[in-house]
Amino acid sequence: MNKIENEKISIAVIKRLPRYYRYLGDLLEHGITRISSNDLSRRMNVTASQIRQDLNKFGCFGQRGYGYNVEMLYEEIKKILGLDKEYSLIIIGAGNLGQALANYGNFKKRGFNFIGAFDNNPDIIGNMAGDVIIDDVANLENFLRNNKVDIAVLSIPKNNAPQISPILVENGVKGIWNFSHIDLHTPDNVIVENVHLTDSVMTLSYKLSELENQ
Ligand code: NAI
Repeated sequence: MNKIENEKISIAVIKRLPRYYRYLGDLLEHGITRISSNDLSRRMNVTASQIRQDLNKFGCFGQRGYGYNVEMLYEEIKKILGLDKEYSLIIIGAGNLGQALANYGNFKKRGFNFIGAFDNNPDIIGNMAGDVIIDDVANLENFLRNNKVDIAVLSIPKNNAPQISPILVENGVKGIWNFSHIDLHTPDNVIVENVHLTDSVMTLSYKLSELENQ
């Protein structure tokens, strides 16, 4: 099954994996233990050949007349996505977005555990964000020295983010989930994943205007 160790999967395939993972999880919840690429294709609205191509890339070959073993596939994708591990997260900026993320229960189910939240607004410090008490960002460095933090969520205004990212890097944070609209300059061993929700709504707007032009 593990062809992946000596072959890199393209980022385009990796970006499709969470969707497979979600669908397979739903199938398992409904007691469905095997599925053909055609059936998965109908459910996911992706061509069966795309599914076969994607899944073959990491060695998950469906068997003719049997299809895919849903649980095996689910577990394999889970490993590839690193979801078989637990991650500790902190939030920097516990405003609207930070609060929404901290309160979203699904992260915990997936192994992403919020262990801290920081803000610089005295009116917010001391309140709750999800299960944690919002601390003063002045205590961030100290917190990082005493707690292993895998991922920092940056949900602060873009002008403030460049001051925070070196503190994260210097104190061993290896993953930054960056919602601030600014490109951060970090060493190669720190992974920054930028999120722009507006990209998604722009894609929607493009598709709507295409529809109107038909
Ligand atoms: P907000 O104003 O509700 O929250 C920002 C929070 O950051 C405030 O509580 C503020 O006190 C805190 N803050 C500011 N500077 C700080 C610092 N140096 N250290 C710690 N805390 C600090 O704003 P909202 O709506 O939560 O958005 C946060 C940021 O995320 C904004 O820059 C916004 O543009 C961006 N954003 C990005 C999205 C995306 O898809 N990438 C979607 C929504 C917002």
